[in-house]
Amino acid sequence: MMLNRRSVLAGAAAVGLWPGIGRAEAAPLLQRPIPSSGETVPVIGVGTSRRYNVEATPEAVAPLREAVRRFLDLGGRVIDTAPDYGRAEEVLGVILPEDDLRRKVFLCTKVAAQGREAGQAQIEQSFRRLRTDRIDLIAVHNLIDTDTQLATLKALKEAGRIRYLGATTWVERQYDDLEALMRRERLDVVQLNYAIDARKAAERILPLARDRGTAVMVNVPFGRERLFTLVRGRALPPFAAEFDCTSWAQFFLKYVLSHEAVTCPVPGMAQARYVEDNLGAARGRLPDAAQRTKMEEYIDGL
Ligand SMILES: NC(=O)c1ccc[n+]([C@@H]2O[C@H](COP(=O)([O-])OP(=O)(O)OC[C@H]3O[C@@H](n4cnc5c(N)ncnc54)[C@H](OP(=O)(O)O)[C@@H]3O)[C@@H](O)[C@H]2O)c1
Repeated sequence: MMLNRRSVLAGAAAVGLWPGIGRAEAAPLLQRPIPSSGETVPVIGVGTSRRYNVEATPEAVAPLREAVRRFLDLGGRVIDTAPDYGRAEEVLGVILPEDDLRRKVFLCTKVAAQGREAGQAQIEQSFRRLRTDRIDLIAVHNLIDTDTQLATLKALKEAGRIRYLGATTWVERQYDDLEALMRRERLDVVQLNYAIDARKAAERILPLARDRGTAVMVNVPFGRERLFTLVRGRALPPFAAEFDCTSWAQFFLKYVLSHEAVTCPVPGMAQARYVEDNLGAARGRLPDAAQRTKMEEYIDGL
């Protein structure tokens, strides 16, 4: 029988042989479908803005490689990047061809350009930087020149160079435009900001995504450092154990994940220890409606 690294890891962990990995960490990750295809993805992905923007030197890439490998070893798949994230695409282009890791990844990038030629050139640059001939998802970044770029993405999807198309925002002032776009186009995926202390997306966009069969990736699920700053020095409330949270990061991610329209938050994770912690949110119980309200009240009360 052939054993891949992940099954060896899981097997070793199950009998307590793998240092640093317990039984819980070896448990499979919760998966959710992309409604337009039915393909499932694990519900926590890696975001690469800011921290993956490093010179592609061995020293700078090493911790990022460790984070990505840990993520894939533990069953993660979705990685989110963008040409606007400085050198992040190039760094992934170093890490992913190694040991054929690219094969395990659901790779997402974006296009942020004015005009058809500029958009096409940027997309070709993404293929080169990521060193791949297929990108799973390209989304129009922050609704920049949306209709022009969507036309290009449709052609790429038709040609089989990308598998999914979508659009992103991370600011509430673009929600009306995003909503109009979701109503007039069949988007496979939208990506937007949603967090326990920033819940506006749940008013209209998330229900619309559910009704339209659009997958939802969630960016800035921690509000960068905002939520961690809010709870600094505080222990988790005892009720967090009712839905299997052992850290604040898991508390914040399980809140996002327990919205039925959400497919996959993509927290920024540039360290293996964050990967291990955050993937814990994709295991065990999720809060129910009453527990979600309790979580909101707790955070609103701080
Ligand atoms: N318009 C768009 O399309 C758009 C906009 C924004 C973001 N995004 C995407 O969404 C992703 C996520 O957003 P983000 O990275 O800006 O913000 P975020 O996910 O809310 O926060 C990420 C930060 O949280 C900290 N963190 C992560 N896991 C942790 C853990 N387990 N314990 C303690 N701290 C932890 C890290 O801070 P330190 O590194 O400082 O330790 C990390 O940089 C981005 O990487 C990007 O892929 C897309």
